[in-house]
Amino acid sequence: MTPRPSALVTRRIPASVLATLESRCDVDLHAGRERISREELLRRVRGKQALICLLTDRVDREVLDAGTDLRIVANIAVGYDNLDVAYARSRGIEVTNTPDVLTEATAEFTWGLILAITRRIPEGERLLRAGGWKGWALDFMLGSELQGKQLGIVGLGRIGLAVAVRAPAFRMRVAYTTVDPVPAGCSGPLPVPQMQALSFDELLATSHVVSLHLPLTDRTRHLIDGKALARMKRTAYLVNTSRGPVVDEAALAWALREHLIAGAALDVYEREPGVHPDLLALENVVLAPHLGSATTETRTAMADLAVRNVLAVLDGRPALTPVP
Ligand code: GLV
Repeated sequence: MTPRPSALVTRRIPASVLATLESRCDVDLHAGRERISREELLRRVRGKQALICLLTDRVDREVLDAGTDLRIVANIAVGYDNLDVAYARSRGIEVTNTPDVLTEATAEFTWGLILAITRRIPEGERLLRAGGWKGWALDFMLGSELQGKQLGIVGLGRIGLAVAVRAPAFRMRVAYTTVDPVPAGCSGPLPVPQMQALSFDELLATSHVVSLHLPLTDRTRHLIDGKALARMKRTAYLVNTSRGPVVDEAALAWALREHLIAGAALDVYEREPGVHPDLLALENVVLAPHLGSATTETRTAMADLAVRNVLAVLDGRPALTPVP
């Protein structure tokens, strides 16, 4: 009898999904509430055929070399900047991510952030809880409306498109710009009427809300720097639900402090779970703890897709969602 393959899972996954994996594999699950330590990852990946990991796990050469028997690394995330994909491929290891299943949840959350910052909802709640609300007043905590204004989407992949298609509900027009080629399956007729392609600089200069939907690559790291922020309108807002290092946080804190832009809403940070201390001190920024895909439905679907990728590869079938 051939031995059962074994898999390391670096964080708890829903019980039903774990059961599917366990029906086919010996599973070594890191069940702690904290992320798996580097030492544990290096030790426990040895002898495993599959690694199911999270965006918080750095799977670099050292980890891949420790995993001499690895056949697949399945990242439970759409982004895969935490993985050395080229090196894994050179070792014949399949690498998969979880696209599509988180698109709608992340788009919904992006709109939550857009509304939160433009209508000052978290700021208002902070004030109320601190006992600072003195009652209704005509000029109290005024925000800014979306209707008739331009939403600028930077990165028109699946999530960027899903954010764009919701814009007409808020009577916003949409402009977009792309930095890297649009992923397969995202091209074709644009679903929003009169969606306008602009250069990056034009989009920054004309949008009321600039929303980032880019993978982290060498080309996108610090794409939003001091110069980019200075191009935006003083009344504009920046929203980032992609990857923290796409924005230079120190430059953003400066732009917010100097009121070069009206506000920002962030779900991702340069050094998660750390947040630049200057941002923490500002009122005109909404700070969410990387919750874009955090719904029960979506997180279950992400774990399920990672497990299905693992089972496919261990069975000798093609992976369902190999990273592009
Ligand atoms: C979340 O940030 C993801 O990449 O899935």
